Amino acid sequence: MKPVTNRGIVELNPSSTEEEAKELYDSWAENYEVDLVENHGYKAPQLCVEAFNKAIQSEEIFPGADKNMKILDAGAGTGMIGEMLVKQGYTNIDALDISQNMLNEAKKKNVYKRLICAPLSDVRIEQIQTAEYDVTLCGGTIVYGQAKPVALDECIRHVRPGGLFIFTLRADSFDPKYGYCTKFDELEKAGKWRLVNRELRELYTDPHEERFRDCYLITYKVIQN
Ligand SMILES: C[S@@+](CC[C@H](N)C(=O)[O-])C[C@H]1O[C@@H](n2cnc3c(N)ncnc32)[C@H](O)[C@@H]1O
Repeated sequence: MKPVTNRGIVELNPSSTEEEAKELYDSWAENYEVDLVENHGYKAPQLCVEAFNKAIQSEEIFPGADKNMKILDAGAGTGMIGEMLVKQGYTNIDALDISQNMLNEAKKKNVYKRLICAPLSDVRIEQIQTAEYDVTLCGGTIVYGQAKPVALDECIRHVRPGGLFIFTLRADSFDPKYGYCTKFDELEKAGKWRLVNRELRELYTDPHEERFRDCYLITYKVIQN
């Protein structure tokens, strides 16, 4: 049997603090891609990019997409989403992450304009202006033990009205007891965003536990900051 190298699942739980998440990723940064992608077939980056491509192809959902639009990779980690977007010709991408060591790995890929080290939480990130981005992609970061439901207001603040917020939510985090689905509905009722698409997808080709295998791949259109 393969060793369990998916430390995000093993070491973070619903009561983990920001500091614990930061420490975990700071110490995991160098081995993260080998552990998650090679050992477990982690797919959040390509899922987010797939949802992005699908949404922007529709003039109805996202009119006027262009390769210079401003994109935030939130919880960018080692920069796999940025790398994929640059290969598609996108030129204007920033990365945000709570872990400086993850951002240091991302920097090596040379795909981001700005690297912002800050937590997604209920605290305003001063380096980001309101409505600064056309699209945010956020893979593997909105999940219990990491970015919590209270962070979603701030995530919406970063995206212009009419822009998109695209993310994965590990399927076990969708349980109402963790507060994410309640928060999604609250934000929709408050006219902050509108659901474009939500589908259940495989997150790992080789999970060490079945209950962590799937995620929801979710696209919201931001209506109002
Ligand atoms: C599973 S990794 C995903 C990284 C990258 N998006 C990917 O799919 O490979 C989660 C990332 O979120 C970051 N993170 C965890 N909690 C965070 C928070 N509250 N705010 C911002 N980043 C956070 C971690 O440092 C880590 O880089």
